[in-house]
Amino acid sequence: MIQHCPTPTELDDLELLVSGAYAPLSRFNEDGSVVTLDLPDGATEAELVDPEGLPLARVAPDGSLEPLTHAQYGPFRRLHLTPAQAREQHAGATFVPVVDALTEADLEELRGLGRVVLLALMGTGTSSLSPVALVRATLVAADLLDDASVVAIPLPAHGDADADHALGTQVVETYAGGDPVHALADTSSSGEPAGLPAAIAAIVDADQPEPEEQGLVLFFTGLSGSGKSTLARALMDLLLEQGGRTVTSLDGDVVRRHLSAGLTFSKADRETNIRRIGWVAAEIARHGGVAVCSPIAPFAETREQVQEMVEAAGGAFFLVHVATPLEECERRDRKGLYAKARAGEIPEFTGISSPYEEPVDPAVRVDTTGRTIEDALDDVLVALDEAGYLHLRGTDD
Ligand code: ADX
Repeated sequence: MIQHCPTPTELDDLELLVSGAYAPLSRFNEDGSVVTLDLPDGATEAELVDPEGLPLARVAPDGSLEPLTHAQYGPFRRLHLTPAQAREQHAGATFVPVVDALTEADLEELRGLGRVVLLALMGTGTSSLSPVALVRATLVAADLLDDASVVAIPLPAHGDADADHALGTQVVETYAGGDPVHALADTSSSGEPAGLPAAIAAIVDADQPEPEEQGLVLFFTGLSGSGKSTLARALMDLLLEQGGRTVTSLDGDVVRRHLSAGLTFSKADRETNIRRIGWVAAEIARHGGVAVCSPIAPFAETREQVQEMVEAAGGAFFLVHVATPLEECERRDRKGLYAKARAGEIPEFTGISSPYEEPVDPAVRVDTTGRTIEDALDDVLVALDEAGYLHLRGTDD
């Protein structure tokens, strides 16, 4: 039987299926259900493992599950109660689903309700806050109330608002087990700023930094000789001159000497190379740093995977297409590689004997033909400035 690590949404669903939170639903892929699992390469059964390889459950061809171990990792794990545990500890309370930071008005509304259990619905994509920040903010809210506890429920979003609403309502009812459920008044459309208690506002601010403080991945893609590395280098220098941000370069040629030493230029190896760059860049973004990447990255799908990794880590992804045409790259041929590729000495050379898929919708596109580096770089700086991520223009005049 194959081992398979599900997506974050599927892992959330797995936990809720096994804990009884989705009852009467107890398996993946029921007809018409949004709670689905994709197995790779046509497999019909698998051992499902967490990202560190711990076996969590076996899934049979009919989608039914045999639990193996309970997940033990992750912040606030102790707050993940099953419905049965929540009933045992909290019967008789009022149950309140929470998907956002609670406002002063929310807290006021809750004060009249006696003992409350705040059900933090912190699964993938459900809150605009990260899962851990939602739980942290909800714990602070509970402290500000007289008699409140917090239960974390990894209810994820499945991209179908109606189905997710119905599923969420059902899960909350299951946790309440007949005790009252209180839905907070929706004030999000009132136009009033949501007065947050200071301690909660601080958590929200740290979780959703302004664009200037957000981790950032600047990803230059283009043909060999297009000017990617030169532009990336010049941008790095400006960032270093300005100071205030940590910067890491992940240049294509440099990465291939270290992180990706030994990889070839086959499609599979190029994909591996780019995913490695993406993985490192996402970690840099997670820590609020700036990663400047400049590989060829010829395949659209791999670039999209990098974007997903970066955004999942809370970073912004900024794609720069260095669109210098092949004829110009070949005319420059600074490394003499195009001549060798034309002579058949280098197989699978991008633009000659291996494809380059142009980005359809980059944040900015620059053709360096007939332009100075400063001039071409300025297009990138304008776009970064407008997007609000970096303000590097006019620092030396
Ligand atoms: S990528 O396709 O995997 O993104 P990467 O940016 O790491 O490529 O490496 C490209 C660099 O490797 C080029 O700048 C060039 O110097 C060198 N190179 C060697 N062989 C090839 C090839 N077959 N195709 C493209 N670049 C090559």
